[in-house]
Amino acid sequence: MKLSALIFLVFSSLHLCQSTLQNYTSIFSFGDSLADTGNLLSIGSISFSSIARFPYGMTYFGHPTGRCSDGRLIIDFIAEAFGLPMLPPYLAHGESFRQGANFAVAGATALDSDFFQEIGVARFLWSNLSLSTQLGWFEELKPSLCNSTQDCSRYFSKSLFLVGEIGGNDYNYGFFVGKTLEEMKSHVPKVVEAIVNSTERLINNGAMHLMVPGNLPVGCSPAYLTAFSSSNKKDYDRRNGCLKRLNNFAKFHNSVLRQGLRRLQRKYPRTRIIYADFYGAAIPFVHAPKHFGFTHGALTACCGGGGPYNFNPSAMCGHNGSNVCSNPSSFVDWDGIHLTEAAYHSIAINLLKGPYTSPSLMS
Ligand SMILES: *[C@@H]1O[C@H](CO)[C@@H](O)[C@H](O)[C@H]1NC(C)=O
Ligand SMILES: *[C@@H]1O[C@H](CO)[C@@H](O)[C@H](O)[C@H]1NC(C)=O
Ligand SMILES: *[C@@H]1O[C@H](CO)[C@@H](O)[C@H](O)[C@H]1NC(C)=O
Ligand SMILES: *[C@@H]1O[C@H](CO)[C@@H](O)[C@H](O)[C@H]1NC(C)=O
Repeated sequence: MKLSALIFLVFSSLHLCQSTLQNYTSIFSFGDSLADTGNLLSIGSISFSSIARFPYGMTYFGHPTGRCSDGRLIIDFIAEAFGLPMLPPYLAHGESFRQGANFAVAGATALDSDFFQEIGVARFLWSNLSLSTQLGWFEELKPSLCNSTQDCSRYFSKSLFLVGEIGGNDYNYGFFVGKTLEEMKSHVPKVVEAIVNSTERLINNGAMHLMVPGNLPVGCSPAYLTAFSSSNKKDYDRRNGCLKRLNNFAKFHNSVLRQGLRRLQRKYPRTRIIYADFYGAAIPFVHAPKHFGFTHGALTACCGGGGPYNFNPSAMCGHNGSNVCSNPSSFVDWDGIHLTEAAYHSIAINLLKGPYTSPSLMS
């Protein structure tokens, strides 16, 4: 009796100390441009066609891949950390998806297009490839991975599902046509419900390990800083120059999301639903960029068309009139909307090694 208790103690403390990574054999990813590794490009969409041009991909791949950055994304670094290949974009058919697939599409929203019709912004949508469309693709792929419920449970018990980041665009469309913060705030529960519903749909498909990220500090992005520039100093966070209202909005979304995920976790106690705090993982290099090697600060885009934040909507990165910095790894922000590979790498490390996933992605 005593011996077995001791053995148990030794084993459980070993387990704690090692904090070994789960042995995932596949990753399935959903989301928007923060995670798209080439789906929008495969569709041949003309919206945001600049991601198909130089300097996108200049740092790592040496050519544009459809990633909205100069190189790899958070999802690429997470796959690498688990010893898996980079996730092939689902719409670039002809790949094997046994070790995972990426369904994320740049511009995607959590809610379906009828919501955007209701609030009158539908004509600004790049596409109607919402989260539920992406789940439909997953369900279409599923029979090629496993057939019986038992077979699928076994297969997906070793899979990590990344549900997002998603939801940022649901708000972007509204904000950029001048909807008020109060109105957008009233839509947060619905956006979160769509994310939580999709997470539940994946669980019903056999998913056991799911990670759901929150929003980034959008009030620090050059696109928002440019669109909502203010002569009132009080609108800015004195510590970092970001727009306070927008960062508070992102935090609000994140807290509603966490509540929704806690409810879901209670409903499905045998699954592991991990909240990934993208906000917390990114804000340190807004506060102290130099500490992380970002000598140019966090609020200036590496690639853009000038102005105080090097963001100009009529000369966006990849378009005529834009310029690109010579050393993207010294910048946090890539094109005013998305981050550099270096910033995504730091966020991924923070998620894998820091306190920004709960429960921890590591254990
Ligand atoms: C939205 O989806 C429908 C089919 O579901 C399609 O016919 C339509 O072209 C799509 N619209 C856009 C903007 O992609
Ligand atoms: C599941 O069944 C379909 C149809 O019989 C088959 O084509 C597919 O290869 C099967 N999938 C697996 C993983 O065995
Ligand atoms: C979420 O699922 C519930 C239950 O199926 C449904 O009533 C609700 O409309 C869904 N919400 C969204 C935003 O998809
Ligand atoms: C940039 O300008 C050149 C010359 O005017 C034109 O040929 C080219 O199509 C433009 N490129 C883009 C991306 O607009």
